Parts: sequence; structure tokens; C-alpha cells
Amino acid sequence: MADPNHPFLAACRREKTPYTPVWLMRQAGRYMEEYRKLRAEFSFLDLCKRPDLAAEITVKPVERLGVDAAILFADILLILEPMGLGLEYSKDDGPVIHGQIRSRTDVEQLQEFEPAEALPFVMETVRRARAALGGKVPLIGFSGAPFTLASYIIEGGGSRNYLKTKRLIYSDPGAWRALMERLAAAVGKYLNAQIAAGAEAVQIFDSWAGCLSPGDYQRYVLPYTRAAIAAVAGAPVIHFSTGTAGMLKQVRAAGGDVIGLDWRIHLDEGWEAVGHDVAIQGNLDPAALLAKPKEIRSRVEDILRRAGGRPGHIFNLGHGVFPETPVEHAIAMVEAVHELGAR
Ligand code: CP3
Repeated sequence: MADPNHPFLAACRREKTPYTPVWLMRQAGRYMEEYRKLRAEFSFLDLCKRPDLAAEITVKPVERLGVDAAILFADILLILEPMGLGLEYSKDDGPVIHGQIRSRTDVEQLQEFEPAEALPFVMETVRRARAALGGKVPLIGFSGAPFTLASYIIEGGGSRNYLKTKRLIYSDPGAWRALMERLAAAVGKYLNAQIAAGAEAVQIFDSWAGCLSPGDYQRYVLPYTRAAIAAVAGAPVIHFSTGTAGMLKQVRAAGGDVIGLDWRIHLDEGWEAVGHDVAIQGNLDPAALLAKPKEIRSRVEDILRRAGGRPGHIFNLGHGVFPETPVEHAIAMVEAVHELGAR
């Protein structure tokens, strides 16, 4: 177990830290040569289902980048399989979900499951990664948020305009609410199972919530995200979303010890909007890591200046690291945060 006063965990509680802790969303992935080597031999789903390899990938960025937290190597879509849906990662089209949900009857056919029994490989990865980390840095577990999961289930994959999802919301709000209730319960249970297995913090990814108007978010999403977060016990929750700069008050109202900000808002304005009584995480544009280290450093400096040394800032990208990112640039970012964020 990491020290409960580790800077990452202390920042989640808005306590003073000797330096600003930093990690990267999608830090365990394709921009790393070690990962690409494994992927040459195994499919992505196979890797997720091999706790020995998944734990190795989880720990690698801590060694290579010097980040202050590890995030479990898995995927938000893994919980769709025990719900009775088919999951596939295609080379060109990203995730494909079979057996999409379009009606109340479809929703009622979704299976209930016990996360520890249905996804034993995820829990085993958590245990192994924790052991491999040896208490050096905390381990973050994660889940998709109900809305982002619902969007994949309804669209059958990624989407540009989320029209099938919105059509269901508008045409059959009862079916939508039934689906979201199930997902909220599943997400809460899944995160608690990860905490029981050893996750020391958890993050909820609502990656696509920004496609909604604030009013629709408030009515059709907020109550379910709130229920999922409220169900989590025993570890801090990071509530992450993108494209939500115009509804940060509602995002905050759904809960979370830490609110994740994307790069479409200045960090100081975002923190002001969510309130200084909550911690924040962010918010460098992931594309900025394509710039030269000198430029990266000045962007880091700007974000740290906007955080103003206030306790409760966890440095991160505003969304996941791109596969095109040179690993040296990610290292330069982490070094700049540690150096410029030292108190
Ligand atoms: O952050 C980490 O390093 C931990 C592992 C992690 C993955 N996915 C591994 C992954 C995490 C936390 C996720 C979350 C995830 N998965 C989200 C939310 C974050 C975000 O980016 O918005 C979403 C929307 C997904 C769904 C998903 N999984 C998509 C859309 C794709 C295909 C697009 C892509 O980036 O490749 C995946 C596949 C995926 N998940 C990969 C990895 C490393 C790439 C698989 C490969 O090796 O080909």
C-alpha cells in the first residue's frame, strides 16, 4: 500500500504536498515501445485478460516516466461482456459492441453480475499491480461513467453526434432511465470491487458527456453519475469528463473528490467554476506533447501558475495521451511539473 500521505492521495484530499503530483491518462498505451512490443504478440483484449501482462503494463509508466500514480491497465468497455453484450476491438473502427440496446425490452435483457466473479482478471491485475508497485505510488482503478457506457451500448461503438443515444432519451425516457439505473449500480459495484482488490483511488470517465446540453445532462445523466459516485466507499473518486466547460457546476454536483478538467477552459476558470472546495485534475492539451520540450515546459508553467499553489491540484493531460506522442516529451512534462511545482 502506498503511504496514505503520498502527494497524489494528499492532493485528492486538498492537503498541502511538497510538489504537484502528476500522471497521464492513457499512460499505459501505444506511445510506449514496451507496449507496442506486447501488442505485436497479443490482441488488446487478450492483454486485458492476462493479469501478469496487464500488471506489467500498469507499472511500466511509473518506472519510465516517474509519474506519481499508476492506472490499472484495462478498458471501460470490459464490463459490457458480463452484461451479455459482445465486445470487439477492430483495427480501424475502434470498439464494436454487438447486441445494442434500443428499447425497454432490450434493457431488461441485460444481465446482472458480480464484478469480482464476472471480471476476475481485472481484480487479479489490481492485486498484481499493487504488489509490483510495492507501495511506491498509489494505484488508480477506473470505470466508464453511466452516460459514456450507455452511449457505447446504444451506438454500438464510438459516435460523432450520438443521435441514437439522444433519440432514445427523447423518445423513451423510461427505457433510458432503466438503462442508466442499471449502469449506475454496476459502476458503483465494479469500483468497490476494484477498491476491495487494492485500488487506492478510482476515476470515472465520462468522456462523451460533453455532447449534451447542460439541461439534458442535469436531467438525464447527473442523477445516475451521482448514484454511482455515492456508492463508492473507501477511496477518493476522480470525476473526469470532456467538453463540459459549459456545465462544470452540474458535473461538480454529480460528485467526486477531484474534478477532471479538459483543456478547453483555463485551469483557474475551471477551478473557480467547480469551486475551490474540491480538488481538480488537469489540464494540458494532450496535443501539446507533440511540441518541443521547451514549449511543453512553458505550457506546464502556465497551468501551475493558474493553480496558484493552492492545495488539491493533480497535474494531468486534459484527455488521454496520443499514440503519436514521443515518450521523451511525456518524460519532459513530468519533470517540468515536479520541478516547477515544487514548494
Ligand atoms: O489510462 C490508461 O493507460 C489505462 C488503460 C485505459 C485504456 N482505456 C486502455 C486502452 C483506460 C483508462 C481506458 C479508458 C477508456 N477506454 C476510455 C475513457 C478515456 C478516454 O480516452 O476517453 C474510453 C472512451 C475507452 C474506450 C476505448 N478503448 C476506445 C474508444 C478505444 C479505441 C481507441 C483507442 O484509443 O485505441 C479503446 C482501446 C484501448 N483502450 C487501447 C488502450 C491502450 C488501445 C488498444 C490497442 O492497443 O490497440
